[in-house]
Amino acid sequence: MVIFMCGIVGYIGDRDCTNVLIDALEKLEYRGYDSAGIAVMGNGAINVAKCKGRLANLVEKMENEGRPSGNMGIGHTRWATHGEPSDINSHPHGNRRVTVVHNGIIENYRQIKEFLINEGYSFVSETDTETVAKLLDYHYSGNPVDTIIKVLSEIKGSYALGVIFRDFPNTIYAVRKDSPLIVGKGEHENFIASDVPAIMKYTRNYYLLEQNEIAVIKKESVTFYNTHKEKISKEIHVADWDVDAAEKGGYEHFMLKEIHEQPTAIKTTIMPRIQNSMPDFSAEGFDNKRLSSYKKIFIVACGTAMHAGLVGKYVIEKLARVPVIVDIASEFRYREPLIGEGDLMIVISQSGETADTKAALELAKNNNADTMAIVNVKGSSIARDADMVIYTHAGPEISVASTKAYMVQISVMYLIAFELALGNDTITKEQCAAYTKQLEEIPDIIEQSIALENKCQFVASKLLNAESLLYIGRGLDYALSMEGSLKLKEISYIHSESYAAGELKHGTISLITEGMPVIAVVTQDDLEEKTISNIKEVKSRGAMVILVCGKDVQVEDEVADYVIRLPKADKLLMPMVAAVPLQLIAYYAAVLKGNDVDKPRNLAKSVTVE
Ligand code: M6R
Repeated sequence: MVIFMCGIVGYIGDRDCTNVLIDALEKLEYRGYDSAGIAVMGNGAINVAKCKGRLANLVEKMENEGRPSGNMGIGHTRWATHGEPSDINSHPHGNRRVTVVHNGIIENYRQIKEFLINEGYSFVSETDTETVAKLLDYHYSGNPVDTIIKVLSEIKGSYALGVIFRDFPNTIYAVRKDSPLIVGKGEHENFIASDVPAIMKYTRNYYLLEQNEIAVIKKESVTFYNTHKEKISKEIHVADWDVDAAEKGGYEHFMLKEIHEQPTAIKTTIMPRIQNSMPDFSAEGFDNKRLSSYKKIFIVACGTAMHAGLVGKYVIEKLARVPVIVDIASEFRYREPLIGEGDLMIVISQSGETADTKAALELAKNNNADTMAIVNVKGSSIARDADMVIYTHAGPEISVASTKAYMVQISVMYLIAFELALGNDTITKEQCAAYTKQLEEIPDIIEQSIALENKCQFVASKLLNAESLLYIGRGLDYALSMEGSLKLKEISYIHSESYAAGELKHGTISLITEGMPVIAVVTQDDLEEKTISNIKEVKSRGAMVILVCGKDVQVEDEVADYVIRLPKADKLLMPMVAAVPLQLIAYYAAVLKGNDVDKPRNLAKSVTVE
């Protein structure tokens, strides 16, 4: 089974379509980079160029073999989890009459393929997408909207489709279900894209396609239909992101740029939710009374977003004294969780499209729990499905490795914890105001953390020959270590594990050999002595210790080989301060190893399939 999680684009207007498609696909390459392709309408024919590998390969191929030209076309960048990425499996797919780009999975493609083969069709690729293209051709009645409606009634699964018909050289057709798709509205030009940054250079105005809505896109107009072929009117959205936010702006990589953007991202996220030094979620439609009505809180997410949830658990339980269960979405959805009425489910997602997180949210809703989504991408599926939404304002995060999204997710976790603790009377108004004020100061403190960049680069250079390493910490430092370890693995390809420092003696310490790096995080003064003892235990067994610690932590010379001293902040907020050096160490380890930092192997930014 070939599974796609890809980026699609489309353009119609007066510009050179190939240039626009390539430019837009570049912005979507974070969604997958196993192959790229475009189909452009020119001289009454659909001309396709596609090949395996990065978009750069396609550009090179077109330079050598010629490029399609015209004023209308569709494009695709692919991420495959099964099946070899190959020229033949690259999108677009179709025949001379109809051509398609697709993001998603057609679950019943085998049956459709069999049927079409019996009807005399032949197939060249292993993809499910080719079956959609050929099914469109099979049902083609001379009316594209009728044809698409007929096909929608027969396909099962998830899809965002961009379709062009040879007989309609001035129209792009688009439809989506369970995979994201927007329609960009320009002046004498229009677009489709999987994500807003792809078209932000050309227009900020866009429509969000809802389930099975069909868009008919011409140079001067966009019309929407439902599956009963009734015209529907849709609200236009305006992207409020900075255009530069989707460009590297002088940084070598998006990841480094995004690390540097963290102070601003936090400010932009928290300031609208603070009034008179108190958290205020009235714009989101809830208050501390509603929050304190919940008996139990579940926080469910994937990867880095789940790690932000772990910080949330520590802080909420500590301040508000409410039990919080944190779970990985792919586990939660299949373990028959004990969630129900009176519980609150918080899902966290940068993209708002992560399939497992989305499914976990559905499950909570079906069990009558209230749901809250903390999401970065406006109008994304998860944001639309949840009862309450808190948008983080990190701007577009392009690097596959999440940094600023994590930071803003944590900042929201803090605000929720303060608000909830106030509602539960577990902190006073004065304490709440004091915590909130300290959170407001965090962006400036993070600037000081970013200034540790050179030191982090130096420390990263000591990790390059390691086969494996450990991250250790206790409490909040443990939650943070998990994120540090993921970041390093993800982009440097150096294996690491994070461990609760006190748990080492129960097995893992046997891994320590001479020179093995151990990154220890010590920011919580009540746990400091304990963790330092654990560090001594690994040090005496030969570990090379890198200590990331608070300013005042007492460290004897022989305890650590390298020490990164963090700027001072309230200890509860230290994960935000300490996250930066861990991100920078991972970043520089990947750079020094010569890896593709923003597009690590085997990964994609939004995981829209299970
Ligand atoms: O878009 P989401 O926040 O739902 O994505 C969740 C994870 O896939 C994501 O955080 C992933 O772990 C990052 N690549 C880690 O840097």
